Amino acid sequence: MSGKGGVGKTMVSVNIAAELARRGYSVGILDTDITGPNVPKALGLLNAPIYATDEGIIPVEGPLKMKVMSLGLMIRDGDPVIWRGPLKAKAIQEFVENVVWGNLDYLVVDLPPGTGDEPLSVMQLIPLQGVVLVTTPQEVALMDVRRALHMVNKMNYRALGVVENMSHFICPGGEKVRIFGEEGGKRLAEEEGIPFLGEIPIDPKVAKLMDKGVPIVVADPENVVSKAFKKIVDRIEEQLSQEDGN
Ligand SMILES: Nc1ncnc2c1ncn2[C@@H]1O[C@H](COP(=O)(O)OP(=O)(O)O)[C@@H](O)[C@H]1O
Ligand SMILES: [Mg+2]
Repeated sequence: MSGKGGVGKTMVSVNIAAELARRGYSVGILDTDITGPNVPKALGLLNAPIYATDEGIIPVEGPLKMKVMSLGLMIRDGDPVIWRGPLKAKAIQEFVENVVWGNLDYLVVDLPPGTGDEPLSVMQLIPLQGVVLVTTPQEVALMDVRRALHMVNKMNYRALGVVENMSHFICPGGEKVRIFGEEGGKRLAEEEGIPFLGEIPIDPKVAKLMDKGVPIVVADPENVVSKAFKKIVDRIEEQLSQEDGN
């Protein structure tokens, strides 16, 4: 989840899911962002047909055999989704409860941005084992992600940690420029006593590949961004296995 839109929540979701799938896990990805359901686009599934059986809606197969379901697959061609509050909660509920996932090792959920009714509905409907908070380094984004963390705590969910996206830009000459400030995500994690999962640089390739519908960890596993995702997923796995040990 994230405090606000546009910080890279979908980019992080699809790459964490893809990295888990690369490791041989059976992975599902559920896009619950009702106003900006961008997961199908990010996985090259914009026009994938969907089917339903008596048991429910069958997820679409994405890269690395990931099972994908998104409101974006139900609402075609960028129709604006202008549902009022109660309708939104209802739509999210029907949608979440009626997908036939089968056996999965991991279900990655891309939550709606912010801390309003929409992420709240999803968090109430799906028993999440852990929440990854995505932020950019600047103070305004951090303020919002603090609110998101507050919501996670209030709901008795476990914050698996903070991913700082768009941490810095590596110039063609090799210089590292911290466009949005210094290590805000790391500071926030320290202040809040939750793990810092890692930082992801700004890389035009990330945006280009997302537009093309291929996660960077699949298209270019040796890229610095892909390597950052490997560390992030290592830390997530480590934490979830600790919980399993209880
Ligand atoms: N590290 C990054 N480097 C370059 N572009 C990025 C990076 N992270 C995200 N983007 C781009 O920024 C835009 C917003 O990201 P997105 O994942 O859609 O955000 P959100 O889901 O939080 O609204 C997308 O076009 C995406 O490709
Ligand atoms: Mg998104």
